Amino acid sequence: MIKGFIFDLDGVLTDTAEYHYLAWQELAKKMGISIDRVFNEQLKGISRMDSLERILAYGNKSDAYTKEEKLQLADEKNEEYKKLITKISPRDLLPGIKEFMAELKQADMKLALASASKNGPDILNQLGIADLFDTIVDPAALANGKPDPEIFIKGAKQLNLTPEECIGVEDAKAGIDSINAADMFSVGVGTPESMKFADMFVVDTAQLNYASILANIKDR
Ligand code: BG6
Ligand code: MG
Repeated sequence: MIKGFIFDLDGVLTDTAEYHYLAWQELAKKMGISIDRVFNEQLKGISRMDSLERILAYGNKSDAYTKEEKLQLADEKNEEYKKLITKISPRDLLPGIKEFMAELKQADMKLALASASKNGPDILNQLGIADLFDTIVDPAALANGKPDPEIFIKGAKQLNLTPEECIGVEDAKAGIDSINAADMFSVGVGTPESMKFADMFVVDTAQLNYASILANIKDR
C-alpha cells in the first residue's frame, strides 16, 4: 500500500535548471571552457562536485586544479547560483504542483524531499511549501549521489516507510535510475525518450495526478 511520495526538487517542483546552467556557464568561461544547454542536460540531478568534474572533463582540464581549488570553484559557482535564486517565490512552483501536493496531503501521504541540492531547504522555504514536507534527506550526508539508490532509500527510511510503500518523482535520468534501483515505483516528468526507464511518466507537471498514478501501479 502506498503511504508516501519522495520528490526530487529541481525540474519537478520548480525549474532551477536554467539558474544552475547560467552559474556553471559563467564559471566554465573563467576556466576557458564553453558549455551549452545541450551539455547542461547531463548535469541535471547530479551533485555540485560531480557537475564540476564533468565540466572539467569536457574541457580536458580534469587535472588542471587541485582538490582545494576545485572546492573553491564549486563554492564560486554556488555563490553565483544563490544570487540568481534570491527571487524564487511561490509563483515559481511548476504548473499543477500546488494542486498535486494538496491531493497528496488530502490522501494522508507522507512527503519527503530527495534532492541532490544543498540549497533544497532554502528553496522549499522560498516556494512556500516547506511545511508540507515531513522530512528532507541531507545530500551532504550521502556516500553516493544519484543514480545510486541511497538518497531514495534514505527518504523512505526517514518517513518510517519501506521503498515499496513509496513513490519517487523525478525529471532526470540519473534520478529515475536511482528510484528504480531503490525498488520504488518511479514517476517521471519529461519526454518519452528521457523517461523511458520510468514506471510511468507525464510530459508536464500539470499532468501529475494522485488517482492516475495509483491506477498505473495497479496496472503493473
Ligand atoms: C540537483 C540539480 O537537484 O542539485 C543539479 O539537478 C545540481 O543540477 C544539484 O548540481 C546540486 O545542487 P546544489 O544546489 O547543491 O549545487
Ligand atoms: Mg531534477
